[in-house]
Amino acid sequence: MNERDWRQGVDEQRPSPARVYDYFLGGSHNFAVDRAMAGQLQQAMPDIGDIMRANRDYLGRAVRFLVNAGIRQFLDLGSGVPTVGNVHELAQREAPDARVVYVDIDPVAVAHSAAILANNPETGIINADLRDADQVLAHETTRELLDFDQPIAVLLVGVLHQLPGDEPADAVRRYRAVMAPGSYLALSQPTQDGRPAEADAFTSTHARGYQETMVLRTRDEVASLLADFSMVAPGVVFLPQWHPVEPLIDETPGRLSTYAVVGKIPA
Ligand SMILES: C[S@@+](CC[C@H](N)C(=O)[O-])C[C@H]1O[C@@H](n2cnc3c(N)ncnc32)[C@H](O)[C@@H]1O
Repeated sequence: MNERDWRQGVDEQRPSPARVYDYFLGGSHNFAVDRAMAGQLQQAMPDIGDIMRANRDYLGRAVRFLVNAGIRQFLDLGSGVPTVGNVHELAQREAPDARVVYVDIDPVAVAHSAAILANNPETGIINADLRDADQVLAHETTRELLDFDQPIAVLLVGVLHQLPGDEPADAVRRYRAVMAPGSYLALSQPTQDGRPAEADAFTSTHARGYQETMVLRTRDEVASLLADFSMVAPGVVFLPQWHPVEPLIDETPGRLSTYAVVGKIPA
């Protein structure tokens, strides 16, 4: 995709969560305004880059776990600007027949996804608000690629903090209603648990300058999102603690102040 294509119709004066995340992951789809916001966030919370990279690493481990569990179809809600380690790349490396539908509200994320998925018929991207489950589920791309009579994995990774109040619970309930037995839901959610002072600075920075909602949730609130699922061990843990590939060397995984969890609908 050339420079002009993905910039078309995009407001370059307002920071976007998708592009700020892309910047922290080392991507190139961000503007000066996003990099400036990244700098502010880093001042308020020096670990922010580590948190975002740990979130992306968790996504990768969760996808590999799900493929190994036999899942061949993914609905990735709040999928972001495609960058290192996209869900279809990870899943199709292990299972070439894996199908992935991406959903994002951000036009840059959608434009860039469309370009890199153009030659991959097992994948698609929908520009939608994940809270509008009716639109997502009825969309022709969803209907073409996903079979809700078979187990599926729904991913809500790195996005729920952008939904206030009960909206995550409403969304989980809505998607769970169409998921077949044997399906999984993987999510991550920032928390204030373990580091209240810095988290306070973090949220107030967001409130001052960022167009993103930043809702932190407790461990119990995260667990309650999966009340209708059986939790995959080890349950709700900090990002690096979820199925680490190597023994953890960071003795304070709570430093990364984001929970990770995978739930299953028993078969
Ligand atoms: C931090 S990125 C996470 C990307 C990816 N899921 C990951 O964890 O690596 C969050 C993405 O969620 C998108 N997003 C936020 N609110 C959304 C909504 N209501 N519906 C769909 N996408 C949303 C943003 O545009 C952004 O691209």
